[in-house]
Amino acid sequence: MSDLENLKISLLAEIAEAGDEAGLEAVRLSALGKKGSVSELLKTLGGMSPEERQSRGAAINALKTEVSDALAARKTVLRDAAIEARLKAETVDVSLPVRSSPAERGRIHPISQITDEITAIFADMGFSIAEGPDIETDYYNFTALNFPEGHPAREMHDTFFFQPDENGERKVLRTHTSPVQVRTMEAQKPPIRIVIPGKTYRQDSDATHSPMFHQVEGLVVDRKSHVGNMRWILEEFCKSFFEVDNVVMRFRPSFFPFTEPSFEVDIQCDRSSGPIVKFGEGTDWMEILGCGMVHPNVLRAGGLDPDEYQGFAWGMGLDRIAMLKYGMPDLRDFFNADVRWMSHYGFRPLDMPTLFGGLSS
Ligand code: DAH
Repeated sequence: MSDLENLKISLLAEIAEAGDEAGLEAVRLSALGKKGSVSELLKTLGGMSPEERQSRGAAINALKTEVSDALAARKTVLRDAAIEARLKAETVDVSLPVRSSPAERGRIHPISQITDEITAIFADMGFSIAEGPDIETDYYNFTALNFPEGHPAREMHDTFFFQPDENGERKVLRTHTSPVQVRTMEAQKPPIRIVIPGKTYRQDSDATHSPMFHQVEGLVVDRKSHVGNMRWILEEFCKSFFEVDNVVMRFRPSFFPFTEPSFEVDIQCDRSSGPIVKFGEGTDWMEILGCGMVHPNVLRAGGLDPDEYQGFAWGMGLDRIAMLKYGMPDLRDFFNADVRWMSHYGFRPLDMPTLFGGLSS
């Protein structure tokens, strides 16, 4: 067999064996590159006699053409195979469910949602938000709120007491958000219009009580604030919060050491359809908050003259109104950190409650 024939067989074999375009390119360079085997042969044409060039020259050129054609053909095959493999690897199964965006996946806890809803409502009425410490002194939690020393009302609260410190003072986990009333009066002059959302603690645990729970407190102090103003504010709040056009409220006389007169407030509702209570209709009553005119002793504790200023205050269980509004049967679920509960009852992170856009929609 001639040398040209041998070269052709080995080049065609290499071309056939090239597994990808890079391998094929290497074969091309080894044959047709500047110093490639076929190129070297072509260079010999110049030194040949005319007769030799006619036979051998034609054979070398034929070899070149054949190798070039084989390279081109193999290249097409390899390119098609590469595209085919890529298409297979990148297949999109259009029947799969759409994956939600990361911004959609997290959930806002109902307590945070309710706090935002309440803040939106009261901010619209010109209130500010106030806060105080969870670990409170006996003075702010009780004494300044007109609970006399040794008075049974202190026991009513099932208080968590800390060990006495070196001065014999026993701190408490605040049993209500009311201590922030006095702290605020000490810090700012009337007119005062604040709401105080926060954590509160009592030794109690069942389906509707948790040792840590949440309250929201309201306080208005001015020269002429009166029960009529309070009633309007609470009615407007309930309408906005429960997202109904009308609520019927009932003020029952009650007792709290820090208010005089004191009331418990019920709202009319329909409880016939299970855990979701409907407001603005029905014949049942549901207690939702305590309120009253701030006791003169509390104003005094806050450094205000009761002959000059008067005010009203209210307090309600935040978890409780969340349960009512969103139909959650067991308060303990709020604090179990169960992701299934959160994905069911939690709120979408980018749906901020606003009065114009809707609170809970
Ligand atoms: N602090 C009371 C409680 O925890 C609730 C309360 C009642 C707050 C009447 C008030 C109020 O501000 O005026 O039971």
